Amino acid sequence: MMVLLAILVVFLFFFVRVAYETVTCYWVIPRRIRRIMEKQGVCGPKPRFLTGNILDMASLVSKSTSKDMDSIHHDIVGRLLPHFLVWSKLYGKRFIYWNGIEPRMCITETELIKELLSRYSTKAGKSWLQQQGSKHFIGRGLLMANGDDWHHQRHISYAGYMVDCTEGMLRSLKSAMESGQTEFEIGEHMSRLTADIISKTEFDCSYEKGKQIFHLLTVLQNRCAQASRHLCLPGSRFFPSKYNREIKSLKTEVERLLLEIIQSRKDCVEVGRSNSFGNDLLGMLLNEMRDKRGISGGFSLNQQLIMDEIKTFFFAGHDTTALLLTWTVMLLASNPTWQDKVRAEVREVCGSNRGAPSVDQLPKLTLLNMVINESLRLYPPASVLPRMAFEDIKLGDLHIPKGLSIWIPVLAIHHSEELWGKDVNEFNPERFSSKSFAPGRFIPFAAGPRNCVGQGFAIMEAKIILAMLISRFSFVISENYRHAPVVVLTIKPKYGVQIRLTPLSY
Ligand code: HEM
Repeated sequence: MMVLLAILVVFLFFFVRVAYETVTCYWVIPRRIRRIMEKQGVCGPKPRFLTGNILDMASLVSKSTSKDMDSIHHDIVGRLLPHFLVWSKLYGKRFIYWNGIEPRMCITETELIKELLSRYSTKAGKSWLQQQGSKHFIGRGLLMANGDDWHHQRHISYAGYMVDCTEGMLRSLKSAMESGQTEFEIGEHMSRLTADIISKTEFDCSYEKGKQIFHLLTVLQNRCAQASRHLCLPGSRFFPSKYNREIKSLKTEVERLLLEIIQSRKDCVEVGRSNSFGNDLLGMLLNEMRDKRGISGGFSLNQQLIMDEIKTFFFAGHDTTALLLTWTVMLLASNPTWQDKVRAEVREVCGSNRGAPSVDQLPKLTLLNMVINESLRLYPPASVLPRMAFEDIKLGDLHIPKGLSIWIPVLAIHHSEELWGKDVNEFNPERFSSKSFAPGRFIPFAAGPRNCVGQGFAIMEAKIILAMLISRFSFVISENYRHAPVVVLTIKPKYGVQIRLTPLSY
């Protein structure tokens, strides 16, 4: 009897505790945050029970993207962020909306953005919901890590194999043309190329297995893009739903393959065939793990963290760069004057290498740099930047309570007439000819201490690939191209970018 009573008390205690925590997390804290912000004049659309404004957003986006655009123009904010347009008109430059139970404040004032990204880089980071959404995908690698872990990991560097991989892609385009093909979906080629480059950078000699892993990661990435739809209900991450099962099995397979590579490197070192784990990113991480082992209290890289890091670099460095390249090719293919100008510059600067720039020549490609910037402005692969306040902070005139998510709509800022002038939706690389422009309005790589670690790598990669492509081929947009940008984590062309290529003689 006593035992039964004790079990009942324990059970009741747990039940009350779980109920209390659920109500606090799902009801009390979000309402408190809402009241604090409303008192400061920051309002927004009324949230629905549990789903917040997710359904409103989904319905606005599905309506705005239901048709393709009727011509190639770049006025895309209303298409990709229709909820932003509607709510900023109704509630002003700062407003709050609800992603399920998570309140999110949208800010567009460049001063506030600068302050948030620079001053509060350690006090505002990735929210719990975002971490849950990507947990099975990139875990706690650099992108998702917060605080000290992040600071340490950031200092790990990487190397590149860009020219070789690009030569390979250009050869395959050329041979396809020799067998009669003239039209190419360039997005596919860019995606394969950047995956090749990042795969070599991370795995070097284990490259073939790396490619297999990256294929699985791409599938996983697409599934994780739907996380907020599947994980918004309380406890939904614990349900054995089809979504959760699929994510788990993909994650297990990716990690099994990664562990196989890690083990084979360790075996080589243990049997004395090598005293280093290699010079690629994986090798560097493993060397670091060995060197740090035994240092108590300090940061140490464990195997799980290494796997997360590898996945993070792939996720952060592959899709984004491929999209930058794809959109830039689309813009150059539909702007022959700029294509000619860039080609002339590439020939002048690196004509002797058949358009393959050396590291010293890269800074001299200034027109190409302007075109890349304009492409990142019009089609920033990361269309929003999220941050969550981990403690109460003061942002400009606002008091931000702990737990409030802040969303920076990069795409809307890059397309703001107030910040860029009347020709904001035109392709005009000339606007980047002067080096100085107000900070906070051009943020494709975020800003401040926690900006993109791969920015230098990505720009170098984009310059090398575009310089080589433009000096070997001229290209025009195909009549089959349908302009239909969509957001699936990043801004993508819905049907790819079809171009027609003509080989150029050297
Ligand atoms: C055009 C290409 C790229 C774009 C537009 C881009 C954009 C961004 C942005 C906006 C962030 C900040 C995300 C946030 O804090 O919410 C970021 C972070 C990051 N990026 Fe990139 N990225 C690009 C290429 C790359 C490449 C090539 C790599 C690696 C080789 C890379 C690695 C990372 C990593 C590791 C982070 C996390 C940094 C941190 O939290 O300290 N990125 N990137």
